[in-house]
Amino acid sequence: MRDEISSKMPEIDLISDEGLRQGVISAIERCLRFCGLGPEALERFPFTLSEGGDRVSLLAHTRAVARVCHAAASAFNECVDAELRLNLDLLLAGALLHDLGKLVEFAPAGEGAFEVSEMGRAMRHPFWSAHFCLEAGLPMEVVHLVGSHSHEGEGRRASAEAIFLHKVDFMVYEATLKKLEG
Ligand SMILES: [Fe+2]
Repeated sequence: MRDEISSKMPEIDLISDEGLRQGVISAIERCLRFCGLGPEALERFPFTLSEGGDRVSLLAHTRAVARVCHAAASAFNECVDAELRLNLDLLLAGALLHDLGKLVEFAPAGEGAFEVSEMGRAMRHPFWSAHFCLEAGLPMEVVHLVGSHSHEGEGRRASAEAIFLHKVDFMVYEATLKKLEG
């Protein structure tokens, strides 16, 4: 399963730290196994339950957020003094895992449709993403990034990387929905 996850998400290889790379794969593997799903679910699940969301997969959204985070943060880092630079490894790990919990939050509802699951009604995806990051032994900075990336993090984002991921995620999410509106 680990090789399949890596090949579906080539952005994992942009993480320079080997331990962090393995931790990201472990978190995804743990979540998939918990849900009784295979790696193909990443392409089958929608990125949102909003209108038209089924036309963009969770995998496509996740990869886009990771790519944009990496490109934008790399450009930022080239322009600022060393002490202001963003940690690209942490940012990439957070970007690749921020919506992992949607595999728990959403459940198939027949004929290719999805609905909010019982666990999703209890807690939204940032909580479940953070849960699997903790289980995989990832650094607390990554747990914070994924747990605070959405509305749950309002007023609580403690790092520049967390603010960066939140803005990139919402930018990609809203731009995608606008394009889907036509
Ligand atoms: Fe997202």
